[in-house]
Amino acid sequence: MNSKLRRIGILTGGGDCPGLNAVIRSIAKPAMTEYGASVIGILDGFEGFVEGRMRELTPKDIAGIINVGGTILGTSNKGNPFMFPVETPKGIDILDYSQHAIQNYQDWNLDALIAIGGDGTMHIVDKFTELGLNMVGVPKTIDNDLASTDVTFGYYSAVSVATDAIDRLQTTASSHHRVMVVEVMGRYAGWIALGAGIAGSADIILIPEIPFRWDKVYEHVLLRSKSGNRFSIVCVAEGAKADSGDQVVKEMDKKRTDPVRLGGIGELVGKKIEEETGLETRTVVLGHILRGGSPTPYDRILATKYGWMALKLAAEGKFGYMVSLRGDEVSSVPVKEAILNLRTVPLDSQMIQSARAVGASFGD
Ligand code: F6P
Repeated sequence: MNSKLRRIGILTGGGDCPGLNAVIRSIAKPAMTEYGASVIGILDGFEGFVEGRMRELTPKDIAGIINVGGTILGTSNKGNPFMFPVETPKGIDILDYSQHAIQNYQDWNLDALIAIGGDGTMHIVDKFTELGLNMVGVPKTIDNDLASTDVTFGYYSAVSVATDAIDRLQTTASSHHRVMVVEVMGRYAGWIALGAGIAGSADIILIPEIPFRWDKVYEHVLLRSKSGNRFSIVCVAEGAKADSGDQVVKEMDKKRTDPVRLGGIGELVGKKIEEETGLETRTVVLGHILRGGSPTPYDRILATKYGWMALKLAAEGKFGYMVSLRGDEVSSVPVKEAILNLRTVPLDSQMIQSARAVGASFGD
């Protein structure tokens, strides 16, 4: 194929998710076979980019990985090159190490670099594009919170795991006549809780977009209990918060691209429900289980289309773009547009309306 692509790099940045390997495969395979390009994998995300860690990928590396979770390249949600954490005797200094990464890009003779990641990664792609690197972005995250694309791969795999967990919790909740609170990831967006809450038929779904009222939550579980439904399932997004409170933060870590690590709202909701209603309550935090394991067929297909399109953009010299899904078609948008906002759940979303119609409470 007639293209200037001779040597391309691939990097996975931020938290892993099912489908990353499927994207790597669908970039690297045609790059090698159709373009005759060599492909290097940058190890451990932007940390590896700054520190100069990479290896050349061979056809063997990318065989049999479409169904494998995680990323064969390794990843990290630390090490933003523009705010790189450096350990010093006095603590951690945050320094601009972007020139180290640019030097590596040049030393490796790259014609293009495809970065697969979430919103943090896309901000970095945008900055390197401004500095002249030939970058293309591929949107990934279980959180589904990237603007300018209908879906990110990883989302439906995470929803599938969370739904399976809720199905399992239903039977034990019903046997013990308990309230079961299940906390899911999602950062500042409620997509995972909403998707799994609908699919698993949760009785209460708490998401960051709809600050909840404690009294409404108690009322709903008590109402169910009085009407003979002797158990309830509450699906809580890690970013959910009461109208009277703040998001619950597990830790702050300035090495991370997003220093805030959320977590703990599930425990709080479970504790308060038990105290205020007298109903026996247990809490389960699904956490990283949502990110592990094999991608669903939908995510494998989407990831394959994304990788194919990313390579096509690189071959056409369309840099500073992110691949994007609109309806059924994969196309592209300027990365600048994709990072303008986080994509949270719209309040008039049909998902929210239909969940309410089948009896779910949002605690409002
Ligand atoms: O962005 C993906 C995500 O899994 C979020 O849902 C979650 O808040 C965060 O990453 C957890 O990050 P870590 O892997 O550092 O615990």
